[in-house]
Amino acid sequence: MSELNYKSFRGAEIDSVFEPLAKLRIAVFHDFPYLYEGSLDYEMEYLKIYANSPDSFLFAAFDGHEMVGATTCIPLKDETEDVREPFERAGFGISTIFYFGESILLSQYRGLGLGHRFFDEREAHARSFELIKFTCFCGVIRPLEHPARPADYRPLNDFWKKRGYQPVIGLLSEFEWLDIGETAPTMKLMQYWMKNLADAIV
Ligand SMILES: CC(C)(COP(=O)(O)OP(=O)(O)OC[C@H]1O[C@@H](n2cnc3c(N)ncnc32)[C@H](O)[C@@H]1OP(=O)(O)O)[C@@H](O)C(=O)NCCC(=O)NCCS
Repeated sequence: MSELNYKSFRGAEIDSVFEPLAKLRIAVFHDFPYLYEGSLDYEMEYLKIYANSPDSFLFAAFDGHEMVGATTCIPLKDETEDVREPFERAGFGISTIFYFGESILLSQYRGLGLGHRFFDEREAHARSFELIKFTCFCGVIRPLEHPARPADYRPLNDFWKKRGYQPVIGLLSEFEWLDIGETAPTMKLMQYWMKNLADAIV
């Protein structure tokens, strides 16, 4: 591992790293709890949302020229209907919220503090917009006894709480994807976590 280098991208600039980002998402989300059987077609649609929003943001870590970690965020108002809908139903002002997409790092680069850096970078970007008061992200809910759960799996919940996020009861979406080893996509329940930037402890 050489010294990592970092680069930020905004809005349409994200198009320029579509392929390494899609490959990284597919590699990292292959593992529990996502178990995502990725497809480049789906990735293309997903990433279009980011490239089309002038205020979206990608922060990426490179080892040499290889993208080994990445994190994204976007104003919630620019996200898809299935992400916005639970917030609208719960009465949140959509234009006050920034949505955090993935935070992904190849396993050999974990434990070096990049997970914290990814939150710092995204929160700084979100805070640069006067209207933004909250940040949020979602995580998949998998049963504790899921057969693909590795014995040494550590949920990220404590890390997220340490970063000032709490799961919001009832704030859920259903996303559909194909699980590794299955033949048809299934719905997954996603739990949203939020932070009020005014209460920031980190
Ligand atoms: C999320 C992720 C980017 C964090 O990267 P990281 O290198 O572990 O981050 P850091 O080194 O900053 O550590 C963050 C915290 O997680 C804790 N942690 C380390 N390894 C962990 C593990 N295997 N499981 C859970 N938490 C872990 C660390 O103790 C640290 O907490 P601390 O500040 O109290 O010490 C990385 O774990 C990852 O890519 N995970 C898979 C994808 C994923 O689930 N992403 C989140 C949803 S998109």
